[in-house]
Amino acid sequence: MSLFSPRVMPAEPAGDDDPFIESLIARMTLEEKAGQLSIFFDNAREDAPDINPAQAAKSLAEVRAEIAAGRVGGLFNGIGVASGRALQKVALEESRLKIPLVFAADVIHGLRTVFPVPLGEAAAFDPDLAERTARAAALEATAVGVQWTFAPMVDVARDQRWGRVVEGAGEDPYLGRVLAAARVRGFQGQDLRDPDTLLATVKHFAAYGAVSGGMEYNSVDLSEATLHDVHLPPFKAGLDAGALSLMTAFNDINGIPATAHRGLLTDVLRKQWRFRGLVVSDFASDAELVSHGHAADEKDAARLSILAGCDVSMASGIYNRYLPELVREGAVPMAVVDESVRRVLRVKKALGLFDNPYRSLDPEKERTQLRLPVTVALAREAARRSVVLLKNEGGLLPLPKGGRRIALIGPFASDRVHLMGPWALWNEQRGVSLEQGLREALDDAQALEVVAGCGIEAPLEGGIAAAVTAAARADVVILSLGEGDEMSGESAARADIGLPAPQLALAEAVAATGKPLVVVLQHGRALALTGAVRAAPALLAAWYLGNESGHALADLIFGDHAPSGRLPVSFPQHAGQQPFHYNHRSTGRPQTQADASRFKSRYREVTHAPLYPFGHGLGYGDIAYGATELDASTLAWDGTATAQVTVTNRGARAMREVAQLYIHQRVASLVRPVRELRGFQAVELKPGESATLRFVLTRQHLAYAGADGRPVAEPGLFDLWIAPSAAGGTPAVLRLLAAV
Ligand code: GLC
Repeated sequence: MSLFSPRVMPAEPAGDDDPFIESLIARMTLEEKAGQLSIFFDNAREDAPDINPAQAAKSLAEVRAEIAAGRVGGLFNGIGVASGRALQKVALEESRLKIPLVFAADVIHGLRTVFPVPLGEAAAFDPDLAERTARAAALEATAVGVQWTFAPMVDVARDQRWGRVVEGAGEDPYLGRVLAAARVRGFQGQDLRDPDTLLATVKHFAAYGAVSGGMEYNSVDLSEATLHDVHLPPFKAGLDAGALSLMTAFNDINGIPATAHRGLLTDVLRKQWRFRGLVVSDFASDAELVSHGHAADEKDAARLSILAGCDVSMASGIYNRYLPELVREGAVPMAVVDESVRRVLRVKKALGLFDNPYRSLDPEKERTQLRLPVTVALAREAARRSVVLLKNEGGLLPLPKGGRRIALIGPFASDRVHLMGPWALWNEQRGVSLEQGLREALDDAQALEVVAGCGIEAPLEGGIAAAVTAAARADVVILSLGEGDEMSGESAARADIGLPAPQLALAEAVAATGKPLVVVLQHGRALALTGAVRAAPALLAAWYLGNESGHALADLIFGDHAPSGRLPVSFPQHAGQQPFHYNHRSTGRPQTQADASRFKSRYREVTHAPLYPFGHGLGYGDIAYGATELDASTLAWDGTATAQVTVTNRGARAMREVAQLYIHQRVASLVRPVRELRGFQAVELKPGESATLRFVLTRQHLAYAGADGRPVAEPGLFDLWIAPSAAGGTPAVLRLLAAV
């Protein structure tokens, strides 16, 4: 896939001159047009999640009256077929023009069956898996009346203090692009008119992951080059895969709030990328232009948002309140409003809502399509594939299923809720705890003793003493530590990305018993590991694995399956080392591992290196990489070159290996990162088996985005690695020749 993939066949909405749509627009009043451009939090229904009490103002009767008055284009985050049908009926039978509602929800990583959080699933480095889980999530969401998901979140995040790292694909733009496209394909399926498909939304446009200091909702200051080279490509990939909606971000970018950013919403999105779907604000992010100090009042905010290119207002209601008068005053041209309405109606038509307004509102599917065994099995597979084995000294893992007393200690040992992670809004199913997974797998379930030891962020009276006692009489200890689900996700930025002090104290006390220690981490970001946790012989980065968490971890801990995940985010040496990302620029005083002199680009306390690098992950085996080889030392401007490597499984178990292709442009008009991921291939290897992996390169694979967003390829020398992570390895060298 080149850096700027040509548009694939998107789910192209109806053309500009669709007679049906044009006739509808011609009959709409200004108030009805504003209504079509307004969606609201749907918490009047029985199954709405209680995530925003302030929005609970409206009763169901008031919502029905608003729909009948033509002031509602869609609702979000309510689910349930019966109540959805009742609301759609109001639109179809009581409103003047009978335009169907569209029902949306934050289906981020599943609905009734909860999959690993997206950051965890990104660790699988597997677009096919990402597509399959998105497809499975779409089947469940459409079974309960959802037609539009506010996913995939495609923000590139390089500062692990930010809570929403958990929702995306991590720090790398290439991995972000590949997975954005895969998830869009999974959600939208082959034809959006199919009632089992979900309209996808790439979000949050743009650069929300670059908030200063990793602090939630904070300002973003970055260069045009970094914006185009790092943060925009995953959006382009998602739109090229056919996503027909895009959500704006809360943050400002260089002083212009994203929801009023004409440069992005119109110049880039419409003029450069030719996007024909709809743009929806984030939750009241249009009204928040006032708080930003960009709009004088909410009426001004409505004007700025619609003129910039934000078609749909989410939750604030300011389009309903102000668009009619703004048009009547001439502050907003009717043509602008009509174009936004046209985009909304085109998307509703692409969803088949005019022909089948009760699509995805089928009571039979609600009864039969949820938590299917095949979906639960997929959740277990995805959870296994998400776990990253950071360390396994002495081959401590896998553990035998019998003959050992195991002490399972920690605040998440028996947890069945936090393991779902953020944005698991509608799962009355409680997840499979680590305790349950281990007990079910053990030959003797009684060989497991479970002690919480401490709370998630608070000590437990007598907890450490009980934990030490249990550890002392065990043969091996499994420590279940990490972040509670409130410590990750939206409004969960952390100033310190280490483990909470009570958990560290517990780890020190348990480690002091000298028993072999396996640490299982539950988290939504890269963590700064210290003390006994960092020193543990076996370390599993397990993210939030969702419903099948305990089963998947037991599968790996006892060796029924081998870990194969790779880090989508770098684990730093120190919590203060943020933002940190492997694809950083060299600086004029690069500090290499060997060079410890003072006047180099580093902190006093640590080198400019991670504790565990991007792409790192171990298995239960021993994979050897041969040298990275090239079939030629030069690449003609319009030619191809092939890079290859031979990998061998020298271990005793089958392994899934993810070989990663990195490049480094040695000399560039805009200095380039010391290493950039530009491809990866997974291969299953039996014991003793070798495989040669090949990457065919063109200059597009070596190009980067210039400050204007256009691809720039520059002749010169490139280092290339095909390696097991973003660190180490000896590069091959390729010269890109100038155009002749
Ligand atoms: C939230 C999030 C966004 C979500 C929306 C609707 O504040 O920023 O990702 O889709 O509101 O819940």
